[in-house]
Amino acid sequence: MVEVIHDIFSMQQQAERIRRSGTTIGLVPTMGSLHEGHLSLIRRARNQSDVVITTVFVNPTQFAPGEDFEAYPRNLERDVTLAHDAGTDYVFAPASGEVYCQDHLTYVTVDQLTSVLEGKFRPNHFRGVTTVVAKLFNVTRPHIAVFGQKDAQQVVVIRRMVRDLNIDVEIVVVPIVREPDGLAMSSRNVYLTDEQRREAPVLFHSLGQAQTDIVNGERSCGVIIRRMRELITSRSSAEIDYCSAAHGESLEELNSIPSGKPVLISLAARFGTTRLIDNIQFTVEKET
Ligand code: PAJ
Repeated sequence: MVEVIHDIFSMQQQAERIRRSGTTIGLVPTMGSLHEGHLSLIRRARNQSDVVITTVFVNPTQFAPGEDFEAYPRNLERDVTLAHDAGTDYVFAPASGEVYCQDHLTYVTVDQLTSVLEGKFRPNHFRGVTTVVAKLFNVTRPHIAVFGQKDAQQVVVIRRMVRDLNIDVEIVVVPIVREPDGLAMSSRNVYLTDEQRREAPVLFHSLGQAQTDIVNGERSCGVIIRRMRELITSRSSAEIDYCSAAHGESLEELNSIPSGKPVLISLAARFGTTRLIDNIQFTVEKET
């Protein structure tokens, strides 16, 4: 059976006990409203560690005023059942006041990597993410922590935090899980109207087109990005925040697609008030 823990002290004690018994802890941080994407992370944690802790916490510090913090879908009972079925041993679901004391003053910030892409449109978002993830690491003491490629920049930022702060945890990344029509699974997809839902796979199609362009020899990021934008705007009502081709680790924008280096093609677009993100990451092999 899965055990649900709400307070930090009990979770920390339990994690400490598990660690001392020599078993390994796999952590899956989530904001709940679990779908197949989250469950693939839990299954990976299950395969790679002895004990799986899934956290369910809608983290207020990563939402800007006017974003969907209040509206964010919450259903702990359903999440606990799904998390259990996917192999979770403990669900850690703290209340907001448990995680942030009223006089909380401390934040973890990763520079540079957080001022581009998502960071341009959500200025304090990553500060909230790194702060809560650092706190969750301290509370659950994991050996591995599993994240989704869906939030590619989040992975880059967390990896850097772990490296720069010498946190003793292995970051494991799981591929994006998609709906049958290609739309990346997201807790926010439920906000889409029927028409927006029908249009939304165009985001994935634009990434597929970029990949085809590259396979066909196109190397100009300007051309690739322009064609992505044209496809999205001609086939949907979406407003594009950004389409980007960047180095997969430094997140620096690229003028041309290099060989032998990780490339991250990513985008964010708004369908009405619903903001969706998607990406592909790959390395073009060096010609020999
Ligand atoms: P949340 O959006 O709930 O996502 C939790 C984890 O699930 C993240 O690592 C995310 O990348 C992964 N995920 C979401 N959709 C996915 C999909 N379709 N395929 C694969 N993985 C997917 O990301 C957060 O929460 C928060 O920022 C958090 C890290 C929990 C900190 O509050």
